[in-house]
Amino acid sequence: MIRSALMNVMTAAALKAGRGLKRDFGEVENLQVSVKGPGDFVTAADRKSEKTLFEELSKARPGYGFVLEESGIVEGTDKSHTWYIDPLDGTTNFLHGLPIFAISIGLAREGQIVAGLVYNPATEDMYIAEKGQGAYHNNRRLRVAARRNFGDALIGCGVPHPGKKGHVGFRAEFAAVMARASNLRRLGAAAIDLCYVAQGSYDGFWERELQPWDIAAGILIIKEAGGYVTDADGNPDMLTTGSICAGNEAIHSQLLTLIRAAK
Ligand code: IPD
Ligand code: CA
Ligand code: CA
Repeated sequence: MIRSALMNVMTAAALKAGRGLKRDFGEVENLQVSVKGPGDFVTAADRKSEKTLFEELSKARPGYGFVLEESGIVEGTDKSHTWYIDPLDGTTNFLHGLPIFAISIGLAREGQIVAGLVYNPATEDMYIAEKGQGAYHNNRRLRVAARRNFGDALIGCGVPHPGKKGHVGFRAEFAAVMARASNLRRLGAAAIDLCYVAQGSYDGFWERELQPWDIAAGILIIKEAGGYVTDADGNPDMLTTGSICAGNEAIHSQLLTLIRAAK
């Protein structure tokens, strides 16, 4: 288990924000909801969670910059550190009473992700990783699945909303992967999807049009669990391109080939 001062700060902030999310999840029908874009909702719970995370992390690590889903970029005086925060990943699930949602916190140092945390307060699943220290689910060390045969693989994915440009292209990718894999899943919280690759529940995962706060933490958690993760073109700059393809070495490469060839 990782017991660094940094991870203590991150877990304390996530547990505090998580208590608020859990309370709001119990009274979801009373929440104020607004729409940011096609299929993209924001609730009072997202905003409260973000405020708590911002306050707690700013107090513990003064000067670090932030990339926050709801409030945008907050420049820090310390230019080498940036937090990437999704205060509630899986808002649609949250609004529908599905307990598949999480807080996601990633920390970049000099542009490299060095720490990641994904916490689902409904189930108390906590996934953490620090660069070079491994990845953990609660106290258990994580390892990606060993399966190499694509025909046996369970593959997770994300569906770009019909209002988004990637929606039509996704159908071709979905058909291509469905024709070869054992089966597919779409759970609706990208941060958790990535942790499911890290723990070997999914053999692979791909999605496009994500944002850095959705994936910063999960990317490190997969890498520290021995997985491979690139963007949908096989390049390493997922935080910029927003697409992601992940798995163990064998499944990652087969999944990448399928989605690149899909038309
Ligand atoms: C969304 C979820 C979903 C993914 C969307 C994301 P949000 O995040 O991660 O799985 O398909 O693209 O925007 O809006 O619930 O934080
Ligand atoms: Ca998200
Ligand atoms: Ca969110």
